[in-house]
Amino acid sequence: MTATAAASAVVPEPAAAVAPEPDGAPDGLWPTTARRTADGSLAVGGVDLRDLAREHGTPAYVVDEADLRGRARTFADAFAAAFAPDRGLAGAEVYYAGKAFLTVAVAGWVHEEGLRLDVATGGELAVAVRAGVPGPALALHGNNKSDAELRAALTHRVGRVVVDSLPEIGRVADLAAAAGVRAPVMVRVTTGVHAGGHEFIATAHEDQKFGLSLAAGAAAEAVAAVLARPELELVGLHSHIGSQILDLAGFEVAARAVLGLRAQVAEQTGYLMPEVDLGGGYGIRYTGAESAPPTPARVATALADVVRRACADLGTPPPRVSVEPGRAVAGPAGLTLYTVGTVKDVRLDDGGARRYVSVDGGMSDNIRPALYGAEYTAALAGRASAADPVTARVVGKHCESGDVVVRHVALPADVADGDLLAVPATGAYGRSMASNYNAMPRPPVLAVRDGRVRVLVRRETVEDLLALDLG
Ligand code: LLP
Repeated sequence: MTATAAASAVVPEPAAAVAPEPDGAPDGLWPTTARRTADGSLAVGGVDLRDLAREHGTPAYVVDEADLRGRARTFADAFAAAFAPDRGLAGAEVYYAGKAFLTVAVAGWVHEEGLRLDVATGGELAVAVRAGVPGPALALHGNNKSDAELRAALTHRVGRVVVDSLPEIGRVADLAAAAGVRAPVMVRVTTGVHAGGHEFIATAHEDQKFGLSLAAGAAAEAVAAVLARPELELVGLHSHIGSQILDLAGFEVAARAVLGLRAQVAEQTGYLMPEVDLGGGYGIRYTGAESAPPTPARVATALADVVRRACADLGTPPPRVSVEPGRAVAGPAGLTLYTVGTVKDVRLDDGGARRYVSVDGGMSDNIRPALYGAEYTAALAGRASAADPVTARVVGKHCESGDVVVRHVALPADVADGDLLAVPATGAYGRSMASNYNAMPRPPVLAVRDGRVRVLVRRETVEDLLALDLG
């Protein structure tokens, strides 16, 4: 088998398809307020993207504030309803996973809509604090938290520190003792469940860096270590099984595993942990070709059923449950707006052709295609076109051939220099994973709502980059 044949056997090429048009559906591809205007341009939040591009330039991250807020609120409401005491459960909290996309404004929005916030570093903690989110509404994660990060968490009285290793337990206890506080902690449990689209983004199988293994006894050991330290309050157990999950079956296995450990600890020590966190990972649409993602109501109902049945089987009262969606809150609310530069036709080995459409951003504003082989789609944003679709690949302007924005998409044959191109579903893990590769300044984050644009994060400049370089 030739190298090319081997590669194509591993990664089958999906057919290039035209992006679905915006339809306002929350389980669609575009932000819910996205519409085509009468003359064919794309408008989001009542803002014509041509006007936005003229005023703010491209590339730009555009976030539909009403959509993001709506998704946050929908999660909060769905979990409150599904886990209500009159349904035999003990209530639920939704933590927004800030790693997906965090700015001061976004932290404020999700908190206003009834969510708490999961932060993974001292930096994310600082953003949440700047937004005015109270410490008790925060959870601090991380497999290698520094003393400074732990001290900051204790100073701000975060609601939970999710401990990820045995040595960390002693460190948190010592820092709490020094600060004269009792630290609320959760133990991150590795259940062995591996879910999600890509190995790099699955976190609960055994051979990886997160959590304490249930099977190997490390989780039980950690629980005992926490209970042995009076400076620590054992809030509960935590499980996160992966990301971009469209099939909810893995959650049942993981939930049963952590609920089982909770029951076992209660039996052995008499201490029934009040909470269990089942993590995030709910998938979204990226191209429109994937199966329908579970709605927040479906996720909440499914998890509530699992917790109810598992606790009945174990004979333990149900815990308060929390979850941590990131992508499903921020992903569909955001798109990236680019301007087309060079357009080039390339002959393919099979005799066909591919139109390479270069845009003014690339792997520095969206690393996911290069890192995970993630698929996206794209559509003309500044005009409609009746031209026939051609097989196209949208690429960036970086100095490497893996700099792909959209691997397979059908674009109108008249796509040309100066056209605006929108890539939907970039709201999560786009800006938050952006880099300055090739000394590219990072794009601004522009919120649109009710016909107005608000700059949440301004465009970086080359001067910003040079200011960090001390020569
Ligand atoms: N909770 C914990 C403990 C997590 O580690 C994560 C994601 C989440 C919640 C939120 O997961 P979500 O609901 O957003 O799937 N950079 C990758 C995703 C990495 C996710 C890491 N942890 C990507 O671009 O697909």
